[in-house]
Amino acid sequence: MHNDTDTHWWRTGAFYQVYIRSFADGNGDGTGDIAGLRSRLDHLEQLSIDAIWINPWFPSPLNDGGYDVAHYRDINPAYGTIEEAQLLIDEAAQRNIRVMVDLVPNHTSSEHRWFKEALASDPGSPARERYIFRDGRGVDGDEPPNNWQSVFGGSTWTRVEDGQWYLHLFDPTQPDLNWSNPAVEREFHDILRFWLDMGAAGFRVDVAHGLAKDPELPDIVRAESEAFRTERLDHPHWDRDEVHEIIRGWRSVLDEYEGSVMVAEAWVANWDRLARYLRPDEFHQVFAFEFLEAEWNAEAMRQAIQNSLDGAHSVGSVPTWVLSNHDVVRHPTRYALPNDVASKPWLLDGDRSVLNEDAGFRRARAATLLGLALPGSVYMYQGEELGLPEVHDLSEDVLDDPVWRQSGGTEKGRDGCRVPLPWSSEGPSYGFGSNGSWLPQPDGWGAFAADVQLGDPDSTLELYKAALALRSERLAGDETMEWVPSQPGVLTFRRAGGFTCVINLSRDSIALPDGNVLLASGSLDGGLLPPDTSVWID
Ligand code: NOJ
Repeated sequence: MHNDTDTHWWRTGAFYQVYIRSFADGNGDGTGDIAGLRSRLDHLEQLSIDAIWINPWFPSPLNDGGYDVAHYRDINPAYGTIEEAQLLIDEAAQRNIRVMVDLVPNHTSSEHRWFKEALASDPGSPARERYIFRDGRGVDGDEPPNNWQSVFGGSTWTRVEDGQWYLHLFDPTQPDLNWSNPAVEREFHDILRFWLDMGAAGFRVDVAHGLAKDPELPDIVRAESEAFRTERLDHPHWDRDEVHEIIRGWRSVLDEYEGSVMVAEAWVANWDRLARYLRPDEFHQVFAFEFLEAEWNAEAMRQAIQNSLDGAHSVGSVPTWVLSNHDVVRHPTRYALPNDVASKPWLLDGDRSVLNEDAGFRRARAATLLGLALPGSVYMYQGEELGLPEVHDLSEDVLDDPVWRQSGGTEKGRDGCRVPLPWSSEGPSYGFGSNGSWLPQPDGWGAFAADVQLGDPDSTLELYKAALALRSERLAGDETMEWVPSQPGVLTFRRAGGFTCVINLSRDSIALPDGNVLLASGSLDGGLLPPDTSVWID
C-alpha cells in the first residue's frame, strides 16, 4: 500500500493507460497479459507516472476487447489469474505506481451468469429485471420496441427465443443492465469494494453517461440516434439526470478508501453538462475530450483548454487532459491529416496521399509538451511515448473490432490503435512476445521500439521521460496557469513557480522568449521556435 498521505494526488497525477491485450505477452500465446505487464514495470517507473489504468482484464469472450465482461471479480485466463493481479498491484505499489481498474457498468457480456439466467427465465421475472427486456411492436411483436440505433451500428434490440427483445446500446453480446433495479446497484457497490480491498486505487468508468434510460423508451428521431454526443438534454439514453444519483452512490463507496479515484468516460454536449459529473460528490476526474478533439490550430486549442479549465474550476476541480486512447485514431496520425479530414472515415477509404506523417510526428511531440504543461491530471495511452502512429492499413481479414462487423464494413474500427507494442527492434514480434501477436504488427514497427529509443536524447521516449520528470518536480500540486499574450498562431502560458510553455501552431518560425530552454519538442532553429514545435522555458 502507499505510504503517502496525500489523498489528492490524482489532481495533478500522470496516468498511463495499459491496453493489456497489446502491452506485453509473457507466455508466448500472442496476447498481452499480466506476466508481460509485470515484466515491464521498469519502463513505467522510468516514465515517472503515478498510476496505470488497465483496460478490462476480466473473463470475457472479447467480442468488444473485454468491454463485454462475463465475470467482474476475476481475471481473463488469457491474461492470468487473480493472484497475479494481486502481485501486480503490490509490485506496482512498491514503485509508487497505483493501479486503476476499468469498471463496465452499462452492460455485461451475454456470457455473464445473470444474462444466462435471464434467458432461462420468464418474461417479467426478477432475472429479466436486471436487464432491459421488452415486448416488440407490430402484429406479432416482431418489430423492435423502438427505433434506437446501436453505437456500433444496427438496432439496439435483439430478439430472444420467447419473442421478447433486450436492449444493447453497443454489441448484441453486450446487454444493457437495468440501473433502476436496486439489485444491480448493490452488485456494483460490491464489485467496487472487491477491487479496492485488493489495493486498486480506483476505476475508469465506461460509458458513465449512458446508464439511465427513459423508462418509456420513446423513439428518437434518426439524426439524434446517430449522435454519440448530443445537444438534446432530454435524450432517452445519453446524459440523463438520473445517472448522477448512481454516481453519488459509487462515490460514497470510494470515500471509504482514502486516496481512491474514479474517472469518467462521458461523451456529453458541453462543459456545462460535463462539469456535473465532476461535482465534489461525483467523479474525481472526467476526460477532457474536447482537448483531444481540437483541431490543429491555436484558437481551437486555446478554446478547448480554456473551456476545460473553466468547466472543471466551476465545480472546484481541475481538467484531465488526454490526447489518445484505445478508441480513437492515434494522435500522430490525426495531426498528420488536414484539419478538414475526419480521421475515422479516412481510415476506411480516405485518400492516403493527404497524410503528412512528418508533420503529424512533430505536432504530436509538440502537443505532448503542451498537455504535460497544463494544470490538472493527464492520461497517456500506451505507445504514445514511443511516438506510435495509427496502423491505418490493417487488412480487413484481421479486423477484430465489433465496429467493423456491426457497421457492415462502413467503419473500419479501432484496431489500428491497438496493435501490440514494439519493445525491441528485432525478434518475432518486436519483443512483444516470443510467438507472434494477436494483431499483425506492420513492417518497420521495430523503428519505434523502446530499446532503440532508450538513451537516444532525440527520441520520443526520452522526451516523455524528461517531460514527465520535470512535470512532477516542478508542477506537482500547482493548479494554476496564466496565459501570456502572444502573436496569432502561438500559445504561451506560465505556470506559477514552474516554467513557461510556448507552442507554435503557426506556419512561420517565431522568436523564442528569453530564458533557459528546459525542453523542446523538436530542434530549434537558432534562436527561433519552428512551426509545430513547443518549448518549456525557465
Ligand atoms: C467505451 C470503451 O472505451 C469502448 O472501447 C467500448 O467499446 C465501449 N465503451 C462499450 O463498452
